[in-house]
Amino acid sequence: MSWSQLAPTRDTRDGAAAIAPSLLSADFSRLAEEIRDVEAAGADFLHLDVMDGHFVPNITFGPVLIEGVREVTEMPFDAHLMIENPDKYIPAFAKAGADIITIHVETSTDVKRDLQMIRDAGKHPGITLNPDTPLESLIDYFGDIDLLLVMSVFPGFSGQSFMPEVLSKVQAAKKIRDEDGLEFAIEIDGGIDIDTSKHARAAGVDIMVSGSTVFGSKDYAETIRALRVG
Ligand code: DX5
Ligand code: ZN
Repeated sequence: MSWSQLAPTRDTRDGAAAIAPSLLSADFSRLAEEIRDVEAAGADFLHLDVMDGHFVPNITFGPVLIEGVREVTEMPFDAHLMIENPDKYIPAFAKAGADIITIHVETSTDVKRDLQMIRDAGKHPGITLNPDTPLESLIDYFGDIDLLLVMSVFPGFSGQSFMPEVLSKVQAAKKIRDEDGLEFAIEIDGGIDIDTSKHARAAGVDIMVSGSTVFGSKDYAETIRALRVG
């Protein structure tokens, strides 16, 4: 499955990246409005940060919220599961309306099984890794995924500083993907702003998550445009 099918409306200009605003940085007293606003501003995906208070030191939301906001927007839902034992919850996130379901290699007890569970549920499997986890830990799974998420902060909170050293993982993954004729999308998550987005795009990312930069800005459309093409 080519990743372009994940976001059929995306900007396909050379070097342009798709943008996935993270709902975690939205104003939660106006969630529906915030989602409609980023969609109207040109966002390609809605990134949903699910945290369990075990794998990461923060708790956010689960399938109930995702199901609730599913009817608000046409944007594909990009669910990032920062939770222990993801296999227990994959069916619930699939049912709630997640389109991409991304698990952490650090938390899964059987990565192949979990990616297949996501595929069997009719969803796009993604895998991700913390900044200090080597890319080699994913080598067996590149053929099983539609999305590789490279974390550019330690997961847990929005608003942290970008870690440029992870860009070598983006470059290495892109090389493997292209040499092996694979088609997974490469996404980056954490600390993306107007400046760091340039480095991420230059390294070859296809999708950039942005929490605080998009939702903290006055003009979502202008910010998304600037992140997308620089
Ligand atoms: C971090 C989350 C990120 C975060 C991004 O644990 O996975 O998606 O919300 O927020 P910014 O863009 O503010 O770093
Ligand atoms: Zn995330």
